[in-house]
Amino acid sequence: MKKQFVLCGTFLHTPVFGAVEFLEKGYMLIQDGKVGALLPKLKEEWKDLPFVDRSGRLIIPAYADMHLHAVQYVNRGLGYDKGLLEWLEAYTFPEERRFLEQDYADKVFRDLAEELWQGGSLFSCHYSNAALSTTARLFEMIKASGLCAFVGKTNMDSNGGCMTEESETSLRETGKFLSFGNDKVKPILTPRFAPSCTPRLMKELGEIAEEHDLPVQTHINETRPEIAWVKELFPEVKDYLDVYERFGLIRKDKTILAHAIYNTPDEILRMKEQRVLLAHCPASNSNIASGIMRVKELKEKGLSIGLGSDISGGDALFMNRAMEDALKVSKLLAAVENNEGHILSEIEALYLATKGGQEFFGEKGTFEPGANFHALVIDDSRHTKYRPLTPVERLQKWIYLGGPHLITERYLNGELLVFEKAREAYRNNPATYTLDEVERELGLV
Ligand code: GUN
Ligand code: FE
Repeated sequence: MKKQFVLCGTFLHTPVFGAVEFLEKGYMLIQDGKVGALLPKLKEEWKDLPFVDRSGRLIIPAYADMHLHAVQYVNRGLGYDKGLLEWLEAYTFPEERRFLEQDYADKVFRDLAEELWQGGSLFSCHYSNAALSTTARLFEMIKASGLCAFVGKTNMDSNGGCMTEESETSLRETGKFLSFGNDKVKPILTPRFAPSCTPRLMKELGEIAEEHDLPVQTHINETRPEIAWVKELFPEVKDYLDVYERFGLIRKDKTILAHAIYNTPDEILRMKEQRVLLAHCPASNSNIASGIMRVKELKEKGLSIGLGSDISGGDALFMNRAMEDALKVSKLLAAVENNEGHILSEIEALYLATKGGQEFFGEKGTFEPGANFHALVIDDSRHTKYRPLTPVERLQKWIYLGGPHLITERYLNGELLVFEKAREAYRNNPATYTLDEVERELGLV
């Protein structure tokens, strides 16, 4: 027997970049977690199925936050008087170190998972810090939440301030964290960025990636001083991307590169060839004055792009803010360069926040038949209180004026995702043991 039900509401999704499809009063059959069909009428043979009436509500695909630093959650809003490299030294590395204290890590990760859930980011890609014990707790907390995620132990054996690791330790612990995953929360190799990894570490990480066929996430072309530093550190390479390519860290269809603001034409061609996913992080790029990603040009050249909150370079976890910031910086770029071609639309921003990122998880990110049903149900009735709006106008209002409190339900694989369940799982597995015990459990001591 198939598990099935019918959901009624205003469905809106973006099957291709720049296009939108919607059905104002749609009836969706959901079978075994997948979209069966979406029709303007309730079919005769669906009449006996469980019926979830959300007519009047807006239903969109779930969000994917393609780049965030879980260990920077507490630092949101702090230190934006500095550029990237000074900010890392002064604010970021010391904060990442605080997570060695397990109570701190557990409290923060639980709140982070809950806020991701509240905001509808049912998919996310996390950087932990460089510690195996912290990474273990991050895996546990995300697993308990029921969210889908990639989680990486950050590798940094050079220029990592107070968090710099020994190369040996970095490699040994990488080997261990690879076993922490399950079907929803998976490991991803995470060399922080070229300046914080020695050639030896990157080479061996590339070999590990190849051996276990792993995805990789890192940063690229975020700020001008960073790029100049990469040139100094690796004088033999032709560009930033070349550093990662030399060490086997650009893996076809399996690589996320965050920021990608100052790319050369040749880097763009190679990124496309390798079907890299670029994570656009407009809040971060504004807060630490990094620059503006040329999203429309990159899309026209055929690149895949998702959105990242990049907390705590970014200050907001909620993906509506990432969409809003992407829209705004695209308009600033258009004004500065006197070229309207840079301007993103709201439906393009929605594509980036949903399908753009979900595809990296092997998902469709849409409501097409056969897609796994991952969706947010939104009560936006306050936005249509004074006069009716079209579904696309409702999307516009939702992006700029909506908030997590208006999301009434979150569906993952056709199942309601309820955070209370995560709390319960957490209570049943209280993280009361000490760091020593975690390390013992992981076979480190
Ligand atoms: N590059 C290397 N590390 C970081 C980080 O933590 N945040 C951002 N925005 N860029 C980085
Ligand atoms: Fe980042």
